Amino acid sequence: MSALSTQLERYRTQVEDALESYLTTGTSQTLHAAMRYSTLNGGKRIRAVLTYLTGTLFGLPSSSLNAPAAAVEMIHAYSLIHDDLPAMDDDNLRRGKPTCHKAFDEATAILAGDALQARAFEILTANSDLNSTARLNQISELAMASGSAGMVGGQMIDIEATNQQQSLEQLQQMHALKTGALIRAAVRLGYLAATDATDEQKKALDHYAEAIGLAFQIRDDILDIESDTETLGKPQGSDLTANKSTYPALLGIDGAKKRTAQLHQQAVDALAIFDKKAEPLRQISSYIIDRIQ
Ligand code: IPE
Ligand code: IPE
Ligand code: MG
Ligand code: MG
Ligand code: MG
Repeated sequence: MSALSTQLERYRTQVEDALESYLTTGTSQTLHAAMRYSTLNGGKRIRAVLTYLTGTLFGLPSSSLNAPAAAVEMIHAYSLIHDDLPAMDDDNLRRGKPTCHKAFDEATAILAGDALQARAFEILTANSDLNSTARLNQISELAMASGSAGMVGGQMIDIEATNQQQSLEQLQQMHALKTGALIRAAVRLGYLAATDATDEQKKALDHYAEAIGLAFQIRDDILDIESDTETLGKPQGSDLTANKSTYPALLGIDGAKKRTAQLHQQAVDALAIFDKKAEPLRQISSYIIDRIQ
């Protein structure tokens, strides 16, 4: 196993356990079942891994990062539940299983997403492993990254851009918000947990995170064309069917791939001020642009 796959395995298991422990009880059995169904159903856990890798870069024990790692995965899970709804992408498969609104119903799916969002912030608030300043900064970061200046804002642009021709600049803005914002937040939640991250280090990590966040969504667009439903665990060709604005639609497959390679280089360059302890972060960047699911 490579150094990266060992780390991925370790942190995936750690966040799975944390998510399980944060989703033990609920008032409505159906709502609770839907929240668990859409959170504890696999997923690559890239955002959680980024939080762990960034926080441990500053010497923090990984256990103190369970709450932010789980919180960012809950926001992500909620974003996917809503993204799949008939009013949005209208998809019926997610992580190899029927989407939440298919396994339950639309009302339950909407509410499960809403409740996961609230639960994420409860968890950050109650994390007694971090001081109150760190917690407040994390809450603020995740709120901004989730809302109209982040993921939800990007999703709105995505809806408005469907069946429209976008400029490269508009497309980049849409991707930076709908996907980039949460990926950047995942990195920031890690360094905001530390008391000793310098401004220079934070800036470098922000540049890194912005580059991999954009690369992540471009790769997702490429996989929608090049992969297959079984490998993806979600319907291949969904973007084409819905006539979505994507990088391959604008630049072609080769142009989109070239852009991911450039972004990977930018991500690696951004980490130049860090020593070999940042190696797993560099490797995550190359994993993101080469991944097949
Ligand atoms: C899918 O994200 C949605 C995008 C933002 C592109 P992931 O590819 O990280 O999905 P999971 O969590 O592994 O299922
Ligand atoms: C997802 O973009 C963005 C968010 C969920 C915020 P996509 O619509 O391309 O994601 P997939 O392909 O359905 O996972
Ligand atoms: Mg979408
Ligand atoms: Mg979608
Ligand atoms: Mg997609």
